Amino acid sequence: MAFPTETVYGLGADIFDEEAIEKVFTAKGRPADNPLIAHVADADQIKLLTDDLTLSAERLLLAFAPGPLTVVVNKSPAVPLIATAGLETIGIRMPRLPAAREFLAACGVPVVAPSANLSGRPSPTTWEAVLEDLDGRIDCILKGPASEIGLESTVVDCTGEVTVVLRAGAVSLDQLRAIEPGINISNNTSIDSPRSPGLKHRHYSPKAVVVIGFPAVHGGKSGFIGLQIPNGEYEITRICRDVAEYAHSLYEFFRECDRAGVGIIYCEPVAESGLGIALMDRIRRASEA
Ligand code: TXA
Ligand code: MG
Repeated sequence: MAFPTETVYGLGADIFDEEAIEKVFTAKGRPADNPLIAHVADADQIKLLTDDLTLSAERLLLAFAPGPLTVVVNKSPAVPLIATAGLETIGIRMPRLPAAREFLAACGVPVVAPSANLSGRPSPTTWEAVLEDLDGRIDCILKGPASEIGLESTVVDCTGEVTVVLRAGAVSLDQLRAIEPGINISNNTSIDSPRSPGLKHRHYSPKAVVVIGFPAVHGGKSGFIGLQIPNGEYEITRICRDVAEYAHSLYEFFRECDRAGVGIIYCEPVAESGLGIALMDRIRRASEA
């Protein structure tokens, strides 16, 4: 079942139901070596997932849960390996969107959920985008609002001596450092990184070619998204008020461009601070695909 969260929509399954989890991988066409995040309604459910909540994980959860943060810790034996793609660690997140919290509380178990898109497509930020990708492949969608943040959660590995950010998100590096001063950003987000298997897979990409920057000349069908009004004519233009609105709009803009058959999408670069780090990370990944 797909459900809304403040980051993006997720495709959920009971973490203790291996058959249901397998269906999640199948519906998305997701590689079996990409681990899933477990979503919880409250602190009690975390105890079902790990016997080894490290001090850094605890501090970060206290500061940022419920919210757009995922902590990676050692998993308890009860968590099936299909959920973690064979890893002995598990990502745990407590969403803050009220509809997500009510859904998870009603489930009564932790719910594993990747983003509810076909593997390789931009994450869905509306229920309509979930339907676009997964109609006929899943049982149902819990309709909610458009995802407020629009980018996936910050993923932090709390298992090592040094706490490491594996994926940038709306909880920014500065916010994390205020709680955990020693935290590092993973310098290896490349395809060889064993710590976050998801990063090696093609990600976040529309069918169109994504180019970072303002075009000198351009012809044919193109789209533009950014903060400033560009020169020239575009098939679709999206001018955002600030970086938060840009992040909120990015994936839906990618999908809109695909629906319109746009060949090239120009994305204005933003300063890499705060949410800008996560936004530029996703734009860069889309441009590399
Ligand atoms: O905001 C989000 O995180 C959304 C919503 C639905 O909660 N979920 C999401 O899931 O983005 P997904 O599966 O699309 O991305 C999960 C990321 C992947 O890059 C995966 O490799 C990483 O988290 N991850 C999950 N478990 C991990 C683990 N045990 N160790 C390292 N990385 C892990
Ligand atoms: Mg995803």
